[in-house]
Amino acid sequence: MASQGTQTSAENGPLQKILIAGGGAMGAGIGYIFARAYPNAQVDVMDTNEKVRIAAADHFEKWAAKDKERDEKAGKIPVDITGRLNILGGFGKAQLHYDLMIEAITENLELKKKIFSEFDLRAHDHSLFASNTSSLSITTLSTAVNPKRQGRVIGLHFFNPPRIMKLLEIVTTEATEPSAISLARDVAANLDKTPVICKDAPGFITSRLGIVLINEAIFALQEGLMSAEDIDTSMKLGYNFPMGPLALADFIGLDVVFAVTQTLYDSYQDSKYRPCMLLRKKVEAGHLGQKSGRGFFIYDK
Ligand SMILES: NC(=O)c1ccc[n+]([C@@H]2O[C@H](COP(=O)([O-])OP(=O)(O)OC[C@H]3O[C@@H](n4cnc5c(N)ncnc54)[C@H](O)[C@@H]3O)[C@@H](O)[C@H]2O)c1
Repeated sequence: MASQGTQTSAENGPLQKILIAGGGAMGAGIGYIFARAYPNAQVDVMDTNEKVRIAAADHFEKWAAKDKERDEKAGKIPVDITGRLNILGGFGKAQLHYDLMIEAITENLELKKKIFSEFDLRAHDHSLFASNTSSLSITTLSTAVNPKRQGRVIGLHFFNPPRIMKLLEIVTTEATEPSAISLARDVAANLDKTPVICKDAPGFITSRLGIVLINEAIFALQEGLMSAEDIDTSMKLGYNFPMGPLALADFIGLDVVFAVTQTLYDSYQDSKYRPCMLLRKKVEAGHLGQKSGRGFFIYDK
């Protein structure tokens, strides 16, 4: 794999036009890393919320300045994303044929299915349809596209923040074609991520294991066994976790954690996945973690 900043157009491979739906915590980061790793590609990031679009534009500017400085220090030619990373407020009427479309919108199956049917209108027969969902069924999402394209549907589960986190969990359905998996592996290599492949199942591996730990930490807090600080300290110092489970939940977003836990519970019908009431109450109160300034801890926005 060529290092970022030194790629040639040939290395864009079949990916010239890339669309990311959702420009929040995940979508903006995903759009940015694609614009950097595919130097001749057009990357469109679409979000229906104007505030989110403004924040994404601000992030792109800051990240690009930081990366330019880093590239120059490392003696690399800085990657120019000017004019290639676009922010859109809607799909518009243009019937662009995207090579890769990734949805990173709110964790809601019906909304994501609608986005996939919109993707279908902008696809060609070799387009790759991907979802960044943390828990929802990729197989169900695949039913929203033309049946002849269902083999091109895959999960590309990036982690937060996408610019930093090294893992790419690739999720395959029974129908996913080998060529789609191989393209997903190429994407991981180009983005400098380490891929793991998981068969489609609720929560895959990462959310199934990680969210159970987070939910259990919230139960322990609800039971008054320890303070939030001490629960996190226990896991950091006792298990060498870089971050405690409650701070991680605040970082992910408590609405996302709740939605994923609820999906695991609904899908497996196993009480071990039931969302803790304290988590539900935090979401109802709008205490969503870092993004709202308050979750299990208080943040200075
Ligand atoms: N937050 C994490 O740590 C994390 C990690 C991995 C995966 N994910 C997954 O990524 C997805 C997005 O999560 P996030 O944390 O970025 O959430 P977020 O709330 O920050 O962003 C979601 C964005 O989707 C936009 N949106 C909603 N409906 C839309 C539509 N129809 N068209 C266009 N935009 C629309 C919203 O305006 C919002 O900006 C979810 O599926 C989540 O499970 C999240």
